[in-house]
Amino acid sequence: MPPKKLAAGNWKMNGLKADLAEVAALAEAHATTACEILICPPATLLAPMAATVGSAPILLGGQNCHAAESGAHTGDISAAMLKDAGAGYVILGHSERRADHGETDAEVRIKTGAAWTAGLTAIVCIGETLSQREAGETLDIVGGQLDGSLPDGSTAENMVVAYEPVWAIGTGKVPTTVQIAEVHDFLRAQLVSRFGDAANGIRLLYGGSVKPSNAAEIFAVSNVDGALVGGASLKAADFGGIIDALAAA
Ligand code: 13P
Repeated sequence: MPPKKLAAGNWKMNGLKADLAEVAALAEAHATTACEILICPPATLLAPMAATVGSAPILLGGQNCHAAESGAHTGDISAAMLKDAGAGYVILGHSERRADHGETDAEVRIKTGAAWTAGLTAIVCIGETLSQREAGETLDIVGGQLDGSLPDGSTAENMVVAYEPVWAIGTGKVPTTVQIAEVHDFLRAQLVSRFGDAANGIRLLYGGSVKPSNAAEIFAVSNVDGALVGGASLKAADFGGIIDALAAA
């Protein structure tokens, strides 16, 4: 059985204890769902969020991890720490980390290995900038990032890939469904050519300005197995609308 579709929320650097009320509301509204629900809060909220979620089917994840298991790395967090705090997933190589911290494909690949060692599923993010799209380089860029960021041994259980065009993140701009399909079909073919037929089960998420109002249209696109949602994941009403659209897709 391939994994269920995945509605993943990336809270980025947002969220204080008071915001756990949104997760409590989400848990109450989604006691059962046809898709998987994941929230990746700031690390400070992982443990209290796990307590808030209780037995509701909401998974938790981190937003980054260090490549090492432990040691003298002030301010960093290891995959084992995320796991210990209640995470089952970790986002790696988000474009904001690639831009703010200079993370490279090679570093993302090594961090993915560290995530697997700790028992976490990696959500590896890739995506082109506006100037790269305008130069007609989109498939070259995302193909190179996919190749360089995923370790050998990627499977449907340990890997999720998120296609997030940098120009669509937080801008309200969304690629056309034709553009999304072109990239997702290309990524699927590359995954299958490298990892074999089982890579049909690796979930491919779309991310970038997903809202309740555009979710159904995006989820109808071929090879879109869910979404990685930023701003609209912060409020239970918005994220709930996206979850419902995915469950119905
Ligand atoms: P927005 O949904 O706010 O555009 O963010 C997308 C994103 O970067 C998720 O990782």
